[in-house]
Amino acid sequence: MIIYINDKPCEAETGSLLLHAAQHNNAHIGCICGGNGICQSCFVYVKEGAELLSPPSEEEKAFISDKLFQEGGRLACQTVITGEGTIRVLTRAENLRRIVLGLNVPGFITYAQTIGYNVVTKLPNGAANLVSRVREGRLNPVDSIGKIGGGLRYGAGLAVHTVMETLPVLQAPVSLVSGVLQGPVSFISGALQAPVSLISGAASGIVNAASGLLCTISGGRITLPGTTCQSGTAQQTKAVENVTITVK
Ligand code: FES
Repeated sequence: MIIYINDKPCEAETGSLLLHAAQHNNAHIGCICGGNGICQSCFVYVKEGAELLSPPSEEEKAFISDKLFQEGGRLACQTVITGEGTIRVLTRAENLRRIVLGLNVPGFITYAQTIGYNVVTKLPNGAANLVSRVREGRLNPVDSIGKIGGGLRYGAGLAVHTVMETLPVLQAPVSLVSGVLQGPVSFISGALQAPVSLISGAASGIVNAASGLLCTISGGRITLPGTTCQSGTAQQTKAVENVTITVK
């Protein structure tokens, strides 16, 4: 079937992610976190055919405000094409590109306000969603860094493709630069693996410590997502048992 991404006809199949359809057609879309539903760089505005797409995932509900949902906002890495028909989407990357190239100052201010509102209103939910996914083993921080490397490679490739499509005369120099950049990008991606493992372990320890502290202070009433509060309750019970009352 044909869907329209940034007003360009693109080949797509039912059952595939909007993100993959966009990538296979070299559409201007971001994918920094590699499809983990974290970075929101794959954000799209669905202009037509929302009923032909899967319902919003938990990750989308955690990160996208009601206001943006009303504007047709979705994360392409979480959205599956479920039916045949006319689908039109505008990627955030392309939307921003059009605003900047058109020197659309009012448009940019509105855009910045909308994004700012979304960040402020959804930051706690988004953070809780991330903590809960890490704790439940549904999101591996080390694996995510590897995917970021893949996302950067796709971004670099897309940039090269866009330049060559726009300015064929630059084809040779751009290919050269692209080849030279492949090595450093792969090296950086690999070099990040070990430090990230360490950070991941340390972050896990910090989350556990913070959870235990909250649990103790609140007497078992406050917990971080994905944690239990049994130790806090036990400590609280023990402390009460040790109180001595003397009558004079
Ligand atoms: S949220 Fe990062 S690629 Fe979709």
